[in-house]
Amino acid sequence: MRKIYIFDTTLRDGEQSPGVNLNTQEKVEIALQLEKLGVDRIEAGFPAASPGDLAAVNAVARAVKNATVIGLARSREQDIDAVREAVKGAQDPGIHLFLATSPIHRKHKLRMEKEQVLETADRMIRYAKQYFDKVEFSPEDAGRTELDFLCQVTELAIKAGATVVNIPDTVGYLTPYEYGNIFKTLKENVPGIETIQLSAHCHDDLGMATANALAAILNGADQIEGTINGIGERAGNTALEEVALALETRSDYFQAKTTLNLKEIAKTSRLVSKLTGMPVPGNKAIVGANAFAHESGIHQDGMLKEKTTYEIISPDTIGLKDSKLVLGKHSGRHAFREKLVDLGYESLNEEQVNAAFGKFKDLADRKKTVSDEDIRALLEEKLTETPEIYALEQLTVAFDSHETPSATVRLKIADRGIVEKQSKGNGSVDAIYQAIDALAAEAVELDDYSIKSVTDGTDALGEVHVVLKQGELSAQGRGVSTDILEASARAYVDALNRLVDKRKAPARGRRDNMTLI
Ligand code: KIV
Ligand code: ZN
Repeated sequence: MRKIYIFDTTLRDGEQSPGVNLNTQEKVEIALQLEKLGVDRIEAGFPAASPGDLAAVNAVARAVKNATVIGLARSREQDIDAVREAVKGAQDPGIHLFLATSPIHRKHKLRMEKEQVLETADRMIRYAKQYFDKVEFSPEDAGRTELDFLCQVTELAIKAGATVVNIPDTVGYLTPYEYGNIFKTLKENVPGIETIQLSAHCHDDLGMATANALAAILNGADQIEGTINGIGERAGNTALEEVALALETRSDYFQAKTTLNLKEIAKTSRLVSKLTGMPVPGNKAIVGANAFAHESGIHQDGMLKEKTTYEIISPDTIGLKDSKLVLGKHSGRHAFREKLVDLGYESLNEEQVNAAFGKFKDLADRKKTVSDEDIRALLEEKLTETPEIYALEQLTVAFDSHETPSATVRLKIADRGIVEKQSKGNGSVDAIYQAIDALAAEAVELDDYSIKSVTDGTDALGEVHVVLKQGELSAQGRGVSTDILEASARAYVDALNRLVDKRKAPARGRRDNMTLI
């Protein structure tokens, strides 16, 4: 079996998803989970984008021990220097350099002739090579680049010292047949191609990112780039969990495999969803809530007789357990601790277990049975450590379909103590947010609000995500409760705390304002 290298760009291309802005602590948390998952390479960010991005890549570089940590750079010396600075301290550092090659990008974006593109790529790869053993070069928009020119660029990149040449379908335009054919053509025509690795990087604009990545593998790609849950620019990138499971389940066909620890997939997916605030659709392949759910009577009957009738992947493969241990209000600390170990939270300290147990008992008083998902939601809320400037002490909401709703919010504010405010609003959530705004006096704008149910039933836990904006800054917050109004208040307060925390952290300009060469 051929090994396929996994290049994870959740922290770079994934973070380019609209509305997503991870802070350093969140990036490190995701990177450490990616390391557990066993990805070979982690693209941690775009250091030239801002001092904050550089600092975050540096923190990831220092934390990760078992994967190559890579920074992205345009073909400019100052970008390459920023990556050098950012990956200082990495066990195994690398750089990812890109320059657009397609006629559209040459004409409208770069305003360069082919010769200038070749000259710039050659000069910048050689510059990077002075400082890095591992240099990946991407001809951006390779998918719409003339094939003979792409062969020429690839040959030049190899001669200049690139160790990986990546073929981005930047705008998600190609079909699997066309994308696979690029790899076949490069393999057959470029001198020295056997000395480097070829990489696939696909976007999902036409819903073909995973199929294209697999077509690349069939035609000789050594590495797949992608993100967890397929997040990324516009419609996103190749979902790495889909490629990994396709290779695992159909190894008979692909004759290739990753060295990922597949049992970490479910946990990694949940963490990325939580920290980015991007919910995973229920019907999403591999990691969607319904991926292993069987609804119709005929399917259920088949499953009970023999699982393989309707199940091609066992949930256990990606680390989902069908646990028999049901927790409720009579469960004790021992059963709770066993459940934590079962769910993969074995490294919690005594204080964290006690705090989680308290929350679990509160929930068990309100809910007949507490499911694995409830416990995960409680724990993950508890484990996010942002300094608490604002804490929700009490919430009272008055709703009558003939009256304007009102909410009374009591907050504990660092340095000010307990404060309380009653406000009316255009709905209960609006009333709550008006009261919090009046107390916190932070001048924020609500940029996004979403709500989902963590488990089934009318007593399910509700999870609310909000994004707050304050000038250039934005922060997301998350709140979980059996009551959606309380979850809404908690999410808002969480976002306020993160916003204050961000304001104190080094400036993080957005890359959206940057010109690309
Ligand atoms: O999609 C793309 O072209 C990219 C490049 C930076 C490789 O993400
Ligand atoms: Zn991309």
